[in-house]
Amino acid sequence: MALGLVRAGACLLLGLLVCPACTRACLMCFVTDKERIRICQMFVGMKAWKTKECDEKFQLAFKDLLKTEINYDERNNLHDSFTQMVHSLQETAVAKGEWVYIKAFSKAAEEMKKAILQLKKVPACVPPCGVQELTRRFICDGCYSLICKLPLNCPVKDVTVNRGDQAMFSCVVDFQLPKEDISYSWKFAKGGVRTQDMSYFRDLPRARGSVARIRPAKPVHAGTYSCVIRHDVRPVARLYFFLNVTGPPPRAETELQVTFREVVRWSRKEPEVVEPWKPGLGELLTNPWALTWEDLCLLAALVAVMVASLTVLVWMFCRWYFSGI
Ligand SMILES: *[C@@H]1O[C@H](CO)[C@@H](O)[C@H](O)[C@H]1NC(C)=O
Repeated sequence: MALGLVRAGACLLLGLLVCPACTRACLMCFVTDKERIRICQMFVGMKAWKTKECDEKFQLAFKDLLKTEINYDERNNLHDSFTQMVHSLQETAVAKGEWVYIKAFSKAAEEMKKAILQLKKVPACVPPCGVQELTRRFICDGCYSLICKLPLNCPVKDVTVNRGDQAMFSCVVDFQLPKEDISYSWKFAKGGVRTQDMSYFRDLPRARGSVARIRPAKPVHAGTYSCVIRHDVRPVARLYFFLNVTGPPPRAETELQVTFREVVRWSRKEPEVVEPWKPGLGELLTNPWALTWEDLCLLAALVAVMVASLTVLVWMFCRWYFSGI
């Protein structure tokens, strides 16, 4: 793009220097000033004023091709056509000599228009995004090339899935990609953000395909996914998918998972984790696992004292009861 502008600028400057009044049509892109002058010299001889007049007529004959734009891939074919035209004009000049040049030029221009119509057309730009290299046009008015002026970044697509379902993103564009050396890379902006700011994104180095799948989708997967399509190393398009994971988790499964996690937590309990925790009796009764060795000894002592007291009480009761008879 920048290069195109520079080239356009350079051509413009060159055009003005070489030929201040003339237009810069296809003729000027594919036939050099030297070649044109030489053809004219073959028609009218070496007198400078005659050559100049001939050259003006030459350029005038091609003025219709000023606004011509062709498929960039076809520029070599068009160049070949112009080279052929130069040869056939030289032949005409040699055969017919002076004063037929006006007719010869207009005939050549007509043939050139036909040749241009035969060229492969430029594919249309496909909005809204992408560096669409196949839409590159060669613009005769300035002898430079241009592609569609569309941003690299595509708009964010929203993808909503229920928790536990599959989320899938297809990194595809509506315009035609070059056939070879296409690669895909993925990035992720986590935390449920919906953004196109690249500073939020981190590489997902294992994702290399045009399709990304997340199964099962969890709330932690919510955020923006970005896919860059590259041709060789140059980015062609950058797509964005915002993933929204909604809905409650399936109930039964969640309860099972919670229970399982609890069990794991108990069995792995370390003494230093337990010690600071001094449970009340209620908790001790509902959570027998919470008993420490200290607690157990205390409890045993308590039971022993109670049993002893009970024995003494029963013995005293018996003594009193039987002594009464
Ligand atoms: C996600 O989807 C839900 C339900 O459609 C919606 O209420 C919520 O606003 C969405 N969240 C975001 C961040 O877009």
